[in-house]
Amino acid sequence: MAFLSARAERARISASARAAQRARELRAAGKNIIELAQGEPDFNTPDHVIEAAYRAMHAGQTHYTPVDGTPELKAAIVAKFKRENGLECKLENVSAGAGGKQVLYNALMATLNPGDEVVIPAPSWVAYADITHFAEGVPVWVPTQAKHRFKLTAEELERAITPKTKWLMLNSPSNPSGAVYTAEEYRALAGVLERHPNVHIISDEMYEHVLFDGRTFATFAVVAPQLAARTLTVNGLSKTFAMTGWRLGYACGPVELIRTMARMQGQSSLNPSSVSQAAGVAALNGPMDIVRERNAEFQKRRDFIVPRLNAIPGLACEAPHGAFYVYVSCAGWMGRGNLNNDADVCAYLLEHGVALPNGASYGLSPYFRVSFASSLANLEEACKRIDAAARKLS
Ligand SMILES: Cc1ncc(COP(=O)(O)O)c(C=O)c1O
Repeated sequence: MAFLSARAERARISASARAAQRARELRAAGKNIIELAQGEPDFNTPDHVIEAAYRAMHAGQTHYTPVDGTPELKAAIVAKFKRENGLECKLENVSAGAGGKQVLYNALMATLNPGDEVVIPAPSWVAYADITHFAEGVPVWVPTQAKHRFKLTAEELERAITPKTKWLMLNSPSNPSGAVYTAEEYRALAGVLERHPNVHIISDEMYEHVLFDGRTFATFAVVAPQLAARTLTVNGLSKTFAMTGWRLGYACGPVELIRTMARMQGQSSLNPSSVSQAAGVAALNGPMDIVRERNAEFQKRRDFIVPRLNAIPGLACEAPHGAFYVYVSCAGWMGRGNLNNDADVCAYLLEHGVALPNGASYGLSPYFRVSFASSLANLEEACKRIDAAARKLS
C-alpha cells in the first residue's frame, strides 16, 4: 500500500515558487541571481496597518474568531465592495480566508465533482488549474491571442463551454499578461454566459488597484448583475496593501456557496489569523493615497522595462494595462542554441543570473513572465543580463 495519497500526487509546486526557490538555493551557493519570479509588491505594509495589528494584539485579539471572518472584517469588506466597486452585498455574502488563494481553494473544493470542467483562459495564474486538478476537476485551458491582448472573446468562450462546465475563471488585471477587461468586453462574455445557466463565474480582482494609464476598473458582478447570483468576486489584501505575508483574502458570492466554503475552511485551517483580520479592517477602512502612490511607481517601472525587453533580439512584449507582470514572447529564441521550449529559456536565463517562471505553466508558450515588482536597479541589471544571454545565442 502506497504511503502517499493519489491526491498528494495532484498537488504541484508552482513554476513561480520553483523559480524563486531555485534562486534562493543558487544565492545560498554564492551565485548572484536576480529573482523576478515572485508575485509580490516589494513595498512594506503601510505603517497604520502595522500599528492597528499591534494595538489589536494588546487588546487581546489573539484568539480564535468565527471561521470565515470577524463581523468587523466582514463589515469592512461589505463597505469596500460598495464604496469601490458599487457591489451591494450583506455580511452573509462575504467570506475571508488565509489569502485569496485559500478562498479560491475553498470555492473549488466546495463545488467540483470528479470530471467537472473549469474554463481557464490561457495564460492565467497557475493556481487555477492546479487547484482544479487537486479538487478532481478538469482544467480546460482556452488559448487567447496576443492580438486580443490575451483576453477571452465571446466566441472562444462559447466554444469552450460543455455540459460539464461548472466555472469560468476571469482575472482582471491578469497575472501573468496584465490584460484588463473593459465593461464592454465583460458584457460580451456575459451574453454567452446568460445562455449557459450552469456555468458559474469566479472574478479574481486581486490586482484591482494596479491599473495603468488612468484606466477604470470593471467589476464583473456589477457589469453583469443578471449573473451576480452565480458569480464569486475574489479579492485580497496581498497586492493592494503589500500584505502577502499576513495571508488575508476575501470573496463575495451567493449565500449557499459562501456557507459551504466556510465548511471547507472549518476542516482545514479555521479562521484566518485574528491579528491579520484586525490589520485588514484598518487597511480596508483606511486611507488609499499610499496605494495610489505605489500604483504610480509600478507604472514607472512598467514604462522602464517594456522598451528594454523589446530591444532584446528575439523577444517581444506588449505593455501590460495592469498588474505588475510582463508576459514576454521568446518565440524568436526557439531552435537557437539548445532552446526548444520556454522551460529551456528559463533554465538558460537562470545560468545568466535571472530567475523567471516559464509560460508553459501559465498555459501559453513560448513565453516567460517578468515581475516588475522590483527596484529599477534590479530591473535594469536583469535586462542587461537577458540581453547578454540573447547575444550569445547562435
Ligand atoms: C491572480 C491572483 N489571484 C490570487 C492570488 C492570491 O493571492 P493571496 O493568496 O496572497 O491573496 C494571486 C497571487 O499571486 C494572484 O496572482
